Amino acid sequence: AGNWKMNKNAVEAKQFIEELVVELGTQSDVGVVVCPPFTALESVARALEGSHYCAVGAQNMHPEPSGAYTGEVSAEMLRHLFVSYVILGHSERRAYFGETDDFIRQKVLVALENNLKPILCVGETLEQRDAGHMFDVVGHQLREGMRGVDASQLESFVLAYEPVWAIGTGRTATPEQAQEMHAFLRKQLAGQFSEDVAQKVRILYGGSAKPDNVEQLFRQEDVDGGLVGGASLEVRSFMKIIEVAHQLTEQEFATV
Ligand code: PGA
Repeated sequence: AGNWKMNKNAVEAKQFIEELVVELGTQSDVGVVVCPPFTALESVARALEGSHYCAVGAQNMHPEPSGAYTGEVSAEMLRHLFVSYVILGHSERRAYFGETDDFIRQKVLVALENNLKPILCVGETLEQRDAGHMFDVVGHQLREGMRGVDASQLESFVLAYEPVWAIGTGRTATPEQAQEMHAFLRKQLAGQFSEDVAQKVRILYGGSAKPDNVEQLFRQEDVDGGLVGGASLEVRSFMKIIEVAHQLTEQEFATV
């Protein structure tokens, strides 16, 4: 999944998608999502019309269906634009816009009610990691962000582990660090729901994921894909990441 953040206007977004569609061809074994800013959702959805190989995601959403919330966008408005995913609880929203676990949970529940697949982001800061609190912090974000979610909804649920210290810094978590946290998250899910359901949730890694480091990350047992910021802004680097995922999927099938 590509998180474009506050990048690309509607015209640039359309150009990107037109190129991406050609590059993607008919590959279908890797789920691809692009998350443009609100203002480019419509042009992206239009450019993807008829393509089944890439889905559209939003970067945020308000939990209320409508009303006096200046500057906000509702789940229904997103659905109307053929959006199928929504990033919730990104660390930039938590840090710069004061989003709390409670507010994020409201959005998660509303997204699910509206058939939007949440991409719920969790992750610790460097201070929290250095103090050895990362499992407490991330476990808390997970529990609070998912309270009230029903096990039957988890098949459309995506989690993203994004260590704050790795986002946009060029400093990626090591494959071992990512695997350790992803395994922890899956275990938490198994405890909160069931083992079976925990296996179905896709857990993405995010934080300076790039073409030259994703292979080792994606090889980890509990890393199911990536939430990619900077490296998703150019078709070439985004495609390289998709190709790595594609090759690993083929290898996996070849060994089953
Ligand atoms: P980055 O961003 O890949 O640029 O580090 C990832 C994210 O914040 O989702």
